[in-house]
Amino acid sequence: MTQPTIDQRSAWQALAEHADGMRAAHLGELFAGEPGRHAAFTRQAAGLTLDLSKQRWNEVTLGRLLDLAREAEVPEAIRALLAGERVNRSEDRPALHTALRLPPEASLVVEGEDLVPSVHATLDRMATMVERFHEGQWRGATGRAIRDVVNLGVGGSDLGPLMVTHALADYRPEGIHAIDVHFASTMDGSQLADYLSRLNPETTLFVLSSKSFTTIDTLTNARTARDWLMARLMGESREEGVDAELVMRQHFIGISASTDKMSEWGIAEAHQLEFWEWVGGRYSLWGGIGLPIALVVGMANFRELLAGAHAMDSHFREAPLEDNLPVMLALAGIWNVNFLDIRAHSILPYDGRLEYFAAYLEQLEMESNGKSVTHDGQAVGYSTCPVLWGQLGPNAQHAFYQLLHQGTQSVECDFIASLVRYDDVEDPATRDHLMGQHRLSLANCFAQSRVLMLGDEAIDDEGPRPVHKRYRGNQPSSTLLLDRLTPASLGALIALYEHKVFVQATIWDINPFDQWGVELGKKIAGETQRILEHQGDIASMDDSTRGLIEAVWAAEDG
Ligand code: F6P
Repeated sequence: MTQPTIDQRSAWQALAEHADGMRAAHLGELFAGEPGRHAAFTRQAAGLTLDLSKQRWNEVTLGRLLDLAREAEVPEAIRALLAGERVNRSEDRPALHTALRLPPEASLVVEGEDLVPSVHATLDRMATMVERFHEGQWRGATGRAIRDVVNLGVGGSDLGPLMVTHALADYRPEGIHAIDVHFASTMDGSQLADYLSRLNPETTLFVLSSKSFTTIDTLTNARTARDWLMARLMGESREEGVDAELVMRQHFIGISASTDKMSEWGIAEAHQLEFWEWVGGRYSLWGGIGLPIALVVGMANFRELLAGAHAMDSHFREAPLEDNLPVMLALAGIWNVNFLDIRAHSILPYDGRLEYFAAYLEQLEMESNGKSVTHDGQAVGYSTCPVLWGQLGPNAQHAFYQLLHQGTQSVECDFIASLVRYDDVEDPATRDHLMGQHRLSLANCFAQSRVLMLGDEAIDDEGPRPVHKRYRGNQPSSTLLLDRLTPASLGALIALYEHKVFVQATIWDINPFDQWGVELGKKIAGETQRILEHQGDIASMDDSTRGLIEAVWAAEDG
């Protein structure tokens, strides 16, 4: 007999009934009727404070959502995830990114093997590499110390390291041979071409980051980089003993789950960092894929990032559901998507250091939970992941906030900020100015969530407003405050969202750890490329695609 799907269960039905009454509720009224709402709906853990009071819910809603979490066996799923059970069912393997941040004294035996020693062996190899760079001892083929590192990767092999290196740029250690880290992901070569035009091949090294080591985007960029190095380093210097093997050894590091493929490509064995099939690409910044992060912030800060994530993992494992930050954030999302029909979600950091955080979450959330079949292969009869996008809040205020304020869409927003910044700036005048700028940014953050909540009611200094100036308000939001943005709090923040995604996937009964839809796109792109290169039958294409290909051919023929 097939199990009832989650939307057929009693907890879901109870929520649906309750939602009928709540849909008309306005956040302004909820606040007016409930003094102390902020404290009642705020939770803290691992240096983060999560204020969920501006969600369109009340204590009854929360109670029923917690019943839903229990009915969906969220506590059992958390235990299975952290224990290394094969929670990625379609690929029949565990999803053990949490193992990458276990401390060295921990032990995690999965299918007969303790994973912690090999995780730390990789971290130690990373540390040795990072040290060689920071001591100016990693030399290019002509003997000059490497000073620019270009990460070639895409998706999880790009977005995590890109986001974190940007966020933690203030944490560059002093007194070392500094390395500038750059990122090239696009298959059209536009980012890479720019670097090649201004970097010195003698002092540039490429990190090839690819779990599969088959991703065409990355391998195409890698081939261009290799040819550039060979042409530039072997031309005049050939007599000085610079040969292709030396160039390959000194100018490339590979990070992948496939050592065979790295070796085939020509990466020297000593310069390969291996990771495991049980780490998903979008969950991989915590190991070898994080090398660019460690090159920027140093290994000590990288380990702090891991420790922060581990603190969130421990909280996730131990805290009761009602105090558990990832569970609470997930439940707010479920309530909006499935019961209030709010299927757009905006990520709005009020801190320039988090410039790439929304892009990072777009992959984490939508590649994970953009699914529509249950674990048993049934089509889901309810919505799953909302459309999620974002940008730095202060810039977004001058871009798409108009839609949030007066458009026709209901949107859930996550406001993210740190409480204190710049108090360590040495020059007192600059410190005062910058601390003032930080407060200005916080004021805008708090003001925007307030206006989105209250609409017109937030403003009491004007008389009756003409229709075009009215705000309906009632847009729900969460506010996440970091005590301060540090490697540890950033680690905790990322882990919070990873676990939120997992809790939602558990309730929706979908697999957040595969991405078959993306795989199909890659296959079709390969076929299309062959036709574009005149190596296939254009008649097999649909009318639109045929027209587009013919337009390229016509343009190329002048
Ligand atoms: O786009 C699909 C995807 O597989 C992502 O999940 C992944 O992060 C990205 O491609 C890059 O994959 P790889 O690290 O194997 O090159």
